[in-house]
Amino acid sequence: MSRATRVVRGRVLSFADDPAAAGTDALRRIDDGAVLVEGGRIAAVGEARAILDLAPADAVVDDHSGALVMPGLIDVHIHYPQTQVIASYGAQLLDWLHNYTFVEEQRFADPDHCARVAEFFLTELFRNGTTTALVYCTVYPQSADAFFAASERADARMIAGKAMLDRNAPKGLLDTVQTGYDDSKALIGRWRGRGRLDYAVTPRFAVTSSPEQLEAAGALMKEFPGVYMQSHVDENTDEIEFVRQLFPEARDYLDVYARAGLLGPRSVFGHCIHMTGDEIAAMAGTGSVAAFCPTSNLFLGSGLFDRTRLARAGVRIGLATDVGGGTSYSMLRTAAEGYKVLQLGGQSWPAAEAFYQMTLGNARALSLDHAIGSIEPGKDADLVVLDSHATPAMAHRMERVDDLEQELFVLMTLGDDRAVRQTYVAGEPKKA
Ligand code: GUN
Ligand code: ZN
Repeated sequence: MSRATRVVRGRVLSFADDPAAAGTDALRRIDDGAVLVEGGRIAAVGEARAILDLAPADAVVDDHSGALVMPGLIDVHIHYPQTQVIASYGAQLLDWLHNYTFVEEQRFADPDHCARVAEFFLTELFRNGTTTALVYCTVYPQSADAFFAASERADARMIAGKAMLDRNAPKGLLDTVQTGYDDSKALIGRWRGRGRLDYAVTPRFAVTSSPEQLEAAGALMKEFPGVYMQSHVDENTDEIEFVRQLFPEARDYLDVYARAGLLGPRSVFGHCIHMTGDEIAAMAGTGSVAAFCPTSNLFLGSGLFDRTRLARAGVRIGLATDVGGGTSYSMLRTAAEGYKVLQLGGQSWPAAEAFYQMTLGNARALSLDHAIGSIEPGKDADLVVLDSHATPAMAHRMERVDDLEQELFVLMTLGDDRAVRQTYVAGEPKKA
């Protein structure tokens, strides 16, 4: 399929670095700017007039003047099989998993169901401005095949993996040490490096994997250097107690994963709420990533993420929705709830830092900042166009806004999918 050369015009805003470290020098802002997109990549970025001069005569021009053109948003922890679990009432983690999630995920034995939900899920991500995500599938390899196939058709940069679980879940949702290993390996062979796809070895969490299965996950990571790993840790106090009983030999929860060789710079651990000093030191020492999932942590009553404590210790941090424990697909809503969680912990989060996190920060967390996360020539043309006046309440509030930091804070606090005017995936508009 030949793709249009395109000029996306608007207020171009991107980050060259973390504003927490580099201050306002980190921002790259062009108020009447444009991005030239060719063959799915960013060919040039600059003043609109210069870019329009540079563009071929037959280029499509998308004029979003007044709106912000930013790098596509990135979600570092989300479950695609939970689109019909989101908003399930009244339970904390272990009951929520057994009463709702494990029931729903068994439907993914059916490949037709997988295909339908994968399409819905991707459409919903794009509607919310998210262009890359690190995604859990179910135990069934066909659920990962469906997700990868849909992502490839959309030419989206996605990382995903088949969940591995061999105990403490309904029988129909279990694999074995051998099938979990074999199915994951086959999926890596089928999908890794195809289009813009990559694979994450996905032992769901220590509760549902035997020590032997965690060993098998570690073996896959050794066998396929650079492959990702995703799991959950220290989300809920009952969960932590259960893990202590299951793995009495481990020093702490994270040590269960460390013993299996599952820590490292491509390992992303959801939640990381109730962490000991040893666990934090192990995260930092191995370059492992903590996924901050505020809407989920509030919804499931899990606890408050201590961002300052982890960041000071040098832990790499990403921001994530964790749908369907999380309650919104929108990274804007997620940042808004993140701000409130940090408020409860007496911590601050300036809007520029939050937008950095949703873009370049999360790209760095996924070691993908060479390809996505900022608007620079050569990077993938994954973009979101955000309108700070999208709703009456936003437009009304914007009457009192006189600088970019305030505008970004209004956008994250009041914004959601309605503020997403367009999403470009590899240069192609995805929002109807
Ligand atoms: N821990 C293990 N599985 C899950 C899940 O699906 N969601 C959340 N929030 N935590 C988990
Ligand atoms: Zn999760």
